[in-house]
Amino acid sequence: MQTLFTNINSLVTVNSNGCLKKCGYEMSDIGEIKDGALLFDDNIIWVGTTDEAKRNIQSGEIKPDKIVDMKGNTILPGFVDSHTHIVFAGDRSNEFAKRLRGATYQEIAAEGGGIIATVNAVRNASIDELVENGFKLAMSALRHGTTAMEIKSGYGLDLKNELKMLQAIKKLKDMVPITLKSTFLGAHDIPPEYQNNRDKYVDLICNEMLTAVAEQNLADYCDAFIDKGYYTIEQGERIFQTALDLGLKLKVHADELADVSAASLAAKMVAVSADHLLFISDKGIEDMKKSGTIATLLPGTAYFIRMPYAPARKMLEEGLAVAIATDCNPGSCFTENMQIILSLAVINMKMTAEEAISAATLNGAAALELSDRMGSLEPGKEANFIVCNTPSYTDIFYHFAVNHVSEVWVKGEKLITN
Ligand code: NIG
Ligand code: FE
Repeated sequence: MQTLFTNINSLVTVNSNGCLKKCGYEMSDIGEIKDGALLFDDNIIWVGTTDEAKRNIQSGEIKPDKIVDMKGNTILPGFVDSHTHIVFAGDRSNEFAKRLRGATYQEIAAEGGGIIATVNAVRNASIDELVENGFKLAMSALRHGTTAMEIKSGYGLDLKNELKMLQAIKKLKDMVPITLKSTFLGAHDIPPEYQNNRDKYVDLICNEMLTAVAEQNLADYCDAFIDKGYYTIEQGERIFQTALDLGLKLKVHADELADVSAASLAAKMVAVSADHLLFISDKGIEDMKKSGTIATLLPGTAYFIRMPYAPARKMLEEGLAVAIATDCNPGSCFTENMQIILSLAVINMKMTAEEAISAATLNGAAALELSDRMGSLEPGKEANFIVCNTPSYTDIFYHFAVNHVSEVWVKGEKLITN
């Protein structure tokens, strides 16, 4: 069944030109078609203007089964949220309140709160509770326009509980009607039982956890938090080399709290993406450019824990492929709404609206190696798109902090009407 949408005031195709990601200045081209038309079944079949669509119907070049007048709305590719921690238990509103009274994220972690507070809650939770919490957040993300998503483990920090988290993510893959990718983040924090013997925990990750994860095919990626007070470059290199040997690709939580050259490590290990990067050095940018590693920026986290924003402009000027994602988690950024992330990207990281859209769609998909089948609205790609009740994509940024998404379509099926 082929459906043709006509009279789309602003049809944002993102125009990949057959490329799997956009770098630097290329991100300014989002292939907007004014008074656009879109023909699709499960996949996009054709895009053009409404006038061209009429002519093509007359000449018999396209034969839609159904024609829908969109009456001037805006259509964009669904957002791809390539960095989340939405599977967790418990809540950390108490430490958020403490932070509002002046405590820093690191001070709370040093008191035994932070990631470890969620680790305790996850260890006490059943797999069903984890699935239920993750399901709610994934469906809420979908209502806000997210049509593919990554989810990390990292709140178990022992073999049993990391596998429990990854199994919960696996269950979600069957329950949530969008594409999900999973990431093993056993090196998220140091478990309390290994505080004084960190290398022993790295041994456990390399010798037992990663092998089990790979054998049971539970993760698409391996990630580690390489930062001041967390994992060192040497520990990261060991973990990543083991993961690569087992066939897992890499993502890195890099230089979020301080510059520890984690971006350069990500480049050296040819990670698919390095994420956060608030304190990335010029050398880090140069190395990532050479390796083609995607810079995934998470402005919601800088906002939520009151940190300086990642130097997005510098990265764009140097020609990096920049993606943006939520980092949705109970501690450092609790939102599953990609529209807020787009707002923060333009206002606080000084990206243009066009760059932010490329970062949230095609480049997000590239950070999950999905951009061959999603992230732009072009023939052959999945018909994953959002309809916004606005005359232009600019309004998503202009009228901020409200949900502009009125419909969400995934593989040509309308899943959400808001
Ligand atoms: O991506 N940086 C490390 N991990 C998370 C925070 C997780 C948490 O606080 O629970 C992040 O910001
Ligand atoms: Fe994160």
